[in-house]
Amino acid sequence: MQSCACMIMYVGGNEWIVAPSIAAAGQHGRCCDVFVKVHLSVVGEDKMRISWITEAPTPATVQYGTSPGKYEFSADGTTSSYSYLTYDSGEIHDTVIGPLKPNSLYYYRCGVDSTREFSFKTPPAQFPVKFAVVGDLGQTGWTQSTLRHIAESNYDMLLLPGDLSYADLNQPLWDSFGRLVEPLASQRPWMVTQGNHEIEKIPLIHSEPFTAYNARWRMPFEQSGSGSNLFYSFDVAGVHVIMLGSYTDFDPNSAQFKWLVADLRKIDRNKTPWTVVLIHAPWYNSNTAHQGEKESIDMKASMEGLLYRARVDVVFAGHVHAYERFTRVYNGKTDNCGPVHITIGDGGNREGLASKYINPKPNISIFREASFGHGQLAVVNATHALWTWHRNDDDAAVSSDSVWLRSLSSDTACKVKT
Ligand SMILES: [Fe+2]
Repeated sequence: MQSCACMIMYVGGNEWIVAPSIAAAGQHGRCCDVFVKVHLSVVGEDKMRISWITEAPTPATVQYGTSPGKYEFSADGTTSSYSYLTYDSGEIHDTVIGPLKPNSLYYYRCGVDSTREFSFKTPPAQFPVKFAVVGDLGQTGWTQSTLRHIAESNYDMLLLPGDLSYADLNQPLWDSFGRLVEPLASQRPWMVTQGNHEIEKIPLIHSEPFTAYNARWRMPFEQSGSGSNLFYSFDVAGVHVIMLGSYTDFDPNSAQFKWLVADLRKIDRNKTPWTVVLIHAPWYNSNTAHQGEKESIDMKASMEGLLYRARVDVVFAGHVHAYERFTRVYNGKTDNCGPVHITIGDGGNREGLASKYINPKPNISIFREASFGHGQLAVVNATHALWTWHRNDDDAAVSSDSVWLRSLSSDTACKVKT
């Protein structure tokens, strides 16, 4: 009988991958169990999508309950797969379970006869709520350090502003990324949007963009009236979260723009006093990396006014492999009714850090540093939230940058304009 286990392999430079320990583990690097790469995402306010991949066809059934080993409930989902050049994916299962109680622990297993039990905690229905925020994650030793820090943060939900696996056409790296994040992503919802590394389009050979991303990381776009997995929104515990797509159309005639206008109009500030937005390519950036890209300049020109008038509180971005926090800003200038822009693209990707900055530092840039790490947004109540940035070189509890934010909906000088 074969022994089967995952291991972390050093493959040179700063790159590490998670791999099966036996060569016979199969094209998808099966290891540990037939159910691997489990991750969760919220669907509406009381349901959770369980996504997982198996090598062999199996029912997309999730059994779950509130006690270990006792599965009072069961739900069936759907199964899909995709092909990319010579690679054929495993069986990708998506099953939505619920209704679930808020802030509660559930135990579950994927399939009807798995011996592998997982557990997760649902997000709270009311404040306080704590987000872990990290972009450009990759799968290196730095990524592992970031994930260790995040695991110690007792967060409710992870928000990822693009660039997940850095598979970069090499599809088995999507599988190894799924295994790397599974210990965390099977326990808390991971809500993501796409970055440039998710496009994976090859002219004339594979013309469909986002094939692996859309198949593996299905987000709850239908629930917010979006027709695309590349942009969507959801409410959690008094926070309206908008995930935008930097690499799909964003001009005023685009589906994304029209959807955003409608979504911003629907925000009920009594129910969700906070609104945060995630993009991939930052609209404000004083690093020398990624200057002048249309996904930054043209998307900002198209959509910044919408976010400003809707009094969005924070815009998180990735793409630049460093940390930078701006003041409240609009149209390039300090504006007390504009969002705080934060670049948090320092998750641990294999391309390394972006350590060169434009000098002198612009006045609107408050804190900037090229170190790997992650951020935490602890929304305490309807009016106040604490943002902290945690460098991997420090203990998880140490914050290297922190700022208290006040919600714009509670600022009488910043009335929402429609
Ligand atoms: Fe990127």
